[in-house]
Amino acid sequence: MEPDTSQQPKEIRQLQQEPPKQKTKERETFQTVVIGTNGTGKTTIIKKIVIAALKAGQRVLVVTPDFAEWLTLPEIHERYRSRIEWYKGGRRMIYQEGDLKLINDHFRNGLIVFDDCRSYLDARTSKEIHNLVIRRRQFMVDLIFVAHGFTEIPPKFFTFASQFIIFKTRDSIDIRKKELGSDFENIKQVVNTVNAEAVKDKHFYKIVKR
Ligand SMILES: Nc1ncnc2c1ncn2[C@@H]1O[C@H](COP(=O)(O)OP(=O)(O)OP(=O)(O)O)[C@@H](O)[C@H]1O
Ligand SMILES: [Mg+2]
Repeated sequence: MEPDTSQQPKEIRQLQQEPPKQKTKERETFQTVVIGTNGTGKTTIIKKIVIAALKAGQRVLVVTPDFAEWLTLPEIHERYRSRIEWYKGGRRMIYQEGDLKLINDHFRNGLIVFDDCRSYLDARTSKEIHNLVIRRRQFMVDLIFVAHGFTEIPPKFFTFASQFIIFKTRDSIDIRKKELGSDFENIKQVVNTVNAEAVKDKHFYKIVKR
């Protein structure tokens, strides 16, 4: 028997009867995790993604620990870091203590790359990282996290990743079994294939979408 809904407010009845309207203006966001040992080509591939995003008119913020990388992007000024709120185009940010909070509070609508993040993020999931990965759709941010292996970086990266770019790795993916859930076996197989291919070609990689 159908439940009697006639006593409910009109809005609620409509919600129950109509399929939700497609929000055509809302774009999909992504969270990519790039994993690979030293010199495999992680930064090289991300540069291509960044160039494409800039060409498409997106805002891009590249967080890096390294003064010598990403020199083509103008730097966020030491004294005016909250300008990440409104600049157009791309910027690089040489990581400083407190920047995660700044990004979480001020950066919306664009692509954020956390290059080589093991040197400034620790293995726990901080509240800022947690917030960014769970709210990326509301914030309209795409996220790319770059790391050398499956350990030493926050577990939540794996829970919410929409895709992985996997280069050669040395540590075991097994510690992320819980976070990867039903995708674990598939991704583990890709990791094994990449590691086998990397014997011949150290820049070999595979992309896994979820
Ligand atoms: N597909 C490729 N074929 C040939 N050379 C490549 C390829 N990808 C990257 N390289 C070269 O390998 C070197 C290391 O690349 P890159 O800096 O992108 O590696 P990385 O994984 O970011 O290293 P790190 O872990 O030190 O950050 C660079 O000199 C780059 O030009
Ligand atoms: Mg690099």
